Amino acid sequence: MKPRLLITRQVFDEVIEHLTPHFEIQSNQADEEWSRAELLARVADKDALFVVTSDRVDAELLAAAPRLRIVATGSVGFNHIDLAACAARGIVVSNTPDVLNEATADMAWALLMAAARRVCESEHWLRAGQWKRWAFDQFLGADVWRSTIGIIGMGRIGSAVARRARGFDMRILYCNRSAAPNEAELGAQRVSLDELLAQADHVVLVVPYSPATHHLIGAEQLARMKPTATLINIARGGVVDDAALAQALRAGRPAAAGLDVFENEPALNPALLELPNVALTPHIGSATRSSRVCMAMLAAENLVAFAQGRPLPTPVGGR
Ligand code: DGY
Repeated sequence: MKPRLLITRQVFDEVIEHLTPHFEIQSNQADEEWSRAELLARVADKDALFVVTSDRVDAELLAAAPRLRIVATGSVGFNHIDLAACAARGIVVSNTPDVLNEATADMAWALLMAAARRVCESEHWLRAGQWKRWAFDQFLGADVWRSTIGIIGMGRIGSAVARRARGFDMRILYCNRSAAPNEAELGAQRVSLDELLAQADHVVLVVPYSPATHHLIGAEQLARMKPTATLINIARGGVVDDAALAQALRAGRPAAAGLDVFENEPALNPALLELPNVALTPHIGSATRSSRVCMAMLAAENLVAFAQGRPLPTPVGGR
C-alpha cells in the first residue's frame, strides 16, 4: 500500500503527476481555506505532509498525526515548523533552498527601486488624477547608483542581492554572523549591524526568522539609519518591528521602505497602509512561475525520495 500524503494547498499539475505513482494523495486542489481543526482532522491518517509557510507544524499538529514520518515544506524558510518536536518523533523535514534565490533577489531590488524612487507613491498620485504639471522637485527620491547598500544576512539570497548591486556600482556592506566566503568576489565589506545602519543608503534584510532575529530592527535600530535611507524586508515578518517602522516612516526616518513580509501576515499593521512612503507586496518574493514550480517540485522530490527509501535531496539541517 502506498503511503498517504496530505498537500495542504493547491499545487501545480505536474507536481501531482510526479507524486501520484508514489503516494495516495489528498490535495487541496480547490485551495479551500481549511480551519486548524480541519487540518488536524485531515492529517490524522497521513504518513507524509506537504505544507507551506502559513501552516504551523507544531506539537499539537504532530499529536494529531500519529503516523506522520515526513514534513516537506514548499519554502526555503522553515520557522513555521517545530524542528525539535519533529526530531523527537523521528519525523524528517525538508525545505527548498537555492531554487528561489534569484527570483527573491530580483524582488528585493524591485522593492528597493520602488521605495528609493517613490514608484508606488507617485503612481497612486498619478492615478488619483493629481498630475497637472511637471516640476523640478516632484517626487525627489534617493540615488541608487553609486550609493551604499547594507545587506543584513549574506547567505545565498543576500549574495544574489549583492551581485546585482555591483551592476549599480554600489559600495556593498554586509552584516553576518561569520565572514562570507565569497566576500572578495562580491567586493563586500563585513561590518557590525550598527555600522551598517549608520552608513547604508539602502538596507536589505535577508536573515531567517528565529528568536535571535525577532525585532532585529526596532525603534532603536531605525533611529540609527540615515534619514534619507530605505529599508527593504524580503526576509520574514517579525524580523522588523512593524509598529516601530510605521512610526519611524511617519516621522520620515528612514525616508522609505519596501516590505514583502509582515508580522502576523496576511493581516497588516493598519498604520502601514496609511503611509505613502512604503511599498507593500503580499509575500511574493519567490513568485515567478519557474521559481514556484521549482520549489513545489523540490518539495515533491524530497517526498518521492522518502517514499523510495533514499536520502532526502534537501533535508533541513543539511545534506
Ligand atoms: C520561502 O520560501 O521561505 C518564502 O518566503 C516563501 O515564498
